[in-house]
Amino acid sequence: MTKLRVHCFAISLDGYGAGPNQDVDNPLGVGGLALHEWVFPTRTWQTMHGKDGGLAGIDDDFASRGFENIGASILGRNMFGPIRGPWLDETWKGWWGNNPPYHTPVFVLTNHARPSIVMDGGTTFHFVTDGIQAALQRAVEAANGQDVRLGGGISTIQQYVRAGLVDEMHLAISPILLGAGEHLLAGLDMPKLGYRCTKHVPSPNVTHVVLTRGA
Ligand SMILES: NC(=O)c1ccc[n+]([C@@H]2O[C@H](COP(=O)([O-])OP(=O)(O)OC[C@H]3O[C@@H](n4cnc5c(N)ncnc54)[C@H](OP(=O)(O)O)[C@@H]3O)[C@@H](O)[C@H]2O)c1
Repeated sequence: MTKLRVHCFAISLDGYGAGPNQDVDNPLGVGGLALHEWVFPTRTWQTMHGKDGGLAGIDDDFASRGFENIGASILGRNMFGPIRGPWLDETWKGWWGNNPPYHTPVFVLTNHARPSIVMDGGTTFHFVTDGIQAALQRAVEAANGQDVRLGGGISTIQQYVRAGLVDEMHLAISPILLGAGEHLLAGLDMPKLGYRCTKHVPSPNVTHVVLTRGA
């Protein structure tokens, strides 16, 4: 059975997955980049960015798990880029350059249709305008027996969690306070939705937590 999995989703101590005022200079909102400081030194991150070295250990174990047995991904449109509303032209192709780190089909939820974009390295962005169920169905088909990674952002994860469709969520709780932005779990009754914490592992940089549905 294909699973829908969230990995390496970083939140602040006060629960935010992005800071306020996302824009082209602040893809994660103001202050949000600090959520991810734990992952940058890992071997997985360094390799993803074409560099040698990087640190092994707890953080790297969690980072690398996010790429195991993944055949497709789903993103929200705000994670894909800073443009809001209708696409004024089609020059924006994501934050990640010509060879994005997905290497699979990626289904981007949006209310604004756009042709698919074939990138280098096996990533194709498909823009889905008929909702979360349709995106999941297409992603499951594309994954061809492997799992689907739900990349984010916050609104997208909330919708899938609320619909009971996320099987597993790895959250990395970073030791920072953001005070404002996009709150991941606000309004979600996680126990009622069937989740419980099945793993919690501290590293010197972050606390890793895994929430599993129906465990
Ligand atoms: N902390 C982390 O680990 C982490 C990970 C990933 C992303 N992020 C951050 O999260 C932020 C983005 O999160 P977000 O909550 O602002 O937005 P998001 O979930 O990325 O995208 C929301 C947008 O996607 C489209 N959309 C979502 N659901 C839809 C649906 N059912 N039907 C049609 N369109 C739909 C809508 O765009 P339109 O109506 O404009 O088309 C909506 O405004 C970014 O700052 C990103 O960097 C953080």
